[in-house]
Amino acid sequence: MADDSWRLLSIVQELAATVQVPPSRYLLPEQDRLGGQKLAGADMPEPVPAIDLRRLLASDDGAKEEAAKLRSALQNWGFFLVTDHGIEATLMDALIAASREFFRQPLEKKQEYSNLIEGKQWQLEGYGNDPVKTQDQILDWSDRLHLRVEPEDERNLARWPCDSETFRGLLHEYTLNCKRVKDGILRAMAKLLELDDDCFINQFGDKASTYARFNYYPACPRPDLVLGIRPHSDVCVLTLLLTDKDVGGLQVLRDGTWYNVPPVHDYALLVNVGVSMEIMTNGIFRGPVHRVVTNSEKERMSLAMFYAADLEKEIEPIAELLDETQPARYKKIKCKDFVAAHYEYFSKRERVIESLKI
Ligand code: OGA
Ligand code: NI
Repeated sequence: MADDSWRLLSIVQELAATVQVPPSRYLLPEQDRLGGQKLAGADMPEPVPAIDLRRLLASDDGAKEEAAKLRSALQNWGFFLVTDHGIEATLMDALIAASREFFRQPLEKKQEYSNLIEGKQWQLEGYGNDPVKTQDQILDWSDRLHLRVEPEDERNLARWPCDSETFRGLLHEYTLNCKRVKDGILRAMAKLLELDDDCFINQFGDKASTYARFNYYPACPRPDLVLGIRPHSDVCVLTLLLTDKDVGGLQVLRDGTWYNVPPVHDYALLVNVGVSMEIMTNGIFRGPVHRVVTNSEKERMSLAMFYAADLEKEIEPIAELLDETQPARYKKIKCKDFVAAHYEYFSKRERVIESLKI
């Protein structure tokens, strides 16, 4: 029988507690390191654009100003901060505290929520790492708990940590709040393109999937050789990211330069465009390539909410955005196939969207 033990990953948190040097499977190829310089990242030439959601959704001149800022943020970066979103700071703090508590538990406890079926077969939901597709794949210095939070009636609660009753309640509450924020942003984005306000929201179909992903990045003894998450664009339509308040690490690629996104102190959420949105808008709004670097001193946590369409639905450029001068630039694809293809390409450090360009 073929030896496929290479498919079985260590939990990085366990490795970090024991090794002085990351195992070779985590080390970047020589050309990506260049003495560590390449991972350092540059300061952004301006603060991350910040959009006041309350103002954006009002119907006065203030809203026009915020909409103009939103347009420019989408064109220049593909991401922005959203402030005054109405989500209680206490809720955000409590959820992050509960998730830290989850990651601090002994390994056996966390393995009860493992994303490997019978310790082998990878599935999206649960606690663990990304799938390993090939033996020479370079691995990321992070663990995650990945949960499908919507549709609400399809939650697989067996994967939701139950020791702390608060975790489930908090995640539910946070999901409801984020949905409102996401819908507001999608309406404002539709307006920018002179589409029906609900145009994007309707693209999601009846059983839109939302995934909550709790990312845990242990401190890493060699941040010059290892990435927390390799370069990628999110496969979903939109991502709401709650980043660590104290520890940076997120970087975004623009015109060939990696920029450091500073930690967010004021409870703003970082919003970024996913490649499903890139397809729907026929390339008008692009999903930025980003990655996470590690550091040798502090662990880091983040919580991403990924908004994806109904898995059975096809994603394609919105008809209203097409005409003879603007033909479709992307092929249509079923959301389910898109997500599966994303992981294939992700493991090869490539972007799935390139395969759909016409
Ligand atoms: C992601 C991601 C960034 C971060 O989960 O897709 O890009 O700051 N996370 O953890
Ligand atoms: Ni991402």
